[in-house]
Amino acid sequence: MKIAVLPGDGIGPEIVAQAVNVLEILSRDGLKVELEYGEIGGAGYDAAGDPYPQSTARLAKDADAVLLGAVGGYRYDTLPRPMRPEQGLLRIRKDLNLFANLRPAVLYPELSSASSLKPEVVSGLDIMILRELTGDIYFGQPRGHRRTAEGEREGYDTMLYSESEIARIAHVAFKTALRRDKKLCSVDKANVLETSVLWREVVMEVAKEYPEVDLSHMYVDNAAMQLVRNPKQFDVILTGNMFGDILSDEASMLTGSIGMLPSASLDEKGKGLYEPIHGSAPDIAGQDIANPIATILSVAMMMRHTFDREDEAKRIEDAVRRALADGFRTADIHQEGMKKVGTKEMGDAVAARL
Ligand code: IPM
Ligand code: MG
Repeated sequence: MKIAVLPGDGIGPEIVAQAVNVLEILSRDGLKVELEYGEIGGAGYDAAGDPYPQSTARLAKDADAVLLGAVGGYRYDTLPRPMRPEQGLLRIRKDLNLFANLRPAVLYPELSSASSLKPEVVSGLDIMILRELTGDIYFGQPRGHRRTAEGEREGYDTMLYSESEIARIAHVAFKTALRRDKKLCSVDKANVLETSVLWREVVMEVAKEYPEVDLSHMYVDNAAMQLVRNPKQFDVILTGNMFGDILSDEASMLTGSIGMLPSASLDEKGKGLYEPIHGSAPDIAGQDIANPIATILSVAMMMRHTFDREDEAKRIEDAVRRALADGFRTADIHQEGMKKVGTKEMGDAVAARL
């Protein structure tokens, strides 16, 4: 298992260290794990003047999987756009063709009162968001700034999806639904956008190959509302890049903390980039208080999706569950009567149970 490790910025290095610790335990138990470190985001800019340096691109291409921390920091906010940390993330996704982004929102029973929604609304929540990651308005051309004939400034972007882009993410979504409750909700804005009209058409065509899956469609504004009204109606949500960006942040909060949720971004062959869905949290970087669980659970997703090691994935997820059951809590999920721990202590608690 050749794994490129890209800690990135902010809390990235701290949380990735805890996930690497988990990988080292698995390796002690017999898995052949090979780690190679590289820079991305602000760290890439500092090291090589580029948020996605060539050396990192090479490393990532050679690896079977990539473990990424997070990118971004105040220091980089004023750089010209091509040098911004976020560009590193967008470029590695595009470069490795990681079109399928899996963002689970799972509520651990131990945390049911940490959610801002009533426990009965969220208890037992288990949603999988399938977000298309290499197309849409994020990458559509043309885009830019220009002047109108009258000399007024305009900014413009292009929302664009090809049939094949929609079909390949739809197939992943239907296959994901087959392994779960067989319910798929495709989210679009087909009442307004041409891109969405095609999206819906193609999803319905692909659906013919998956008669066992119960397919529904929802407009994105309604989906945003339903996610806080009755989130348990959802099993798998399929959506485009931008809607998925927004809805996955919303869904993550249903579970109490964005610090708990991992993600996988996969290409056609199952190569993947694994990262927590939260950001680099520069305000708490270096203080040993960030929650490492999302990153540790990203390793579980890596075992499952790239290496086909369901046993190891379950082992990691069980260890996390038991650490929570035993009362360990980082600050973001801490509640009265629980053991408040830092990043490293939380990592150690999981490692001990592993
Ligand atoms: C995410 C992030 C990124 C995105 C940013 C940092 C470019 O918000 O992974 O959800 O918009 O995709
Ligand atoms: Mg986002």
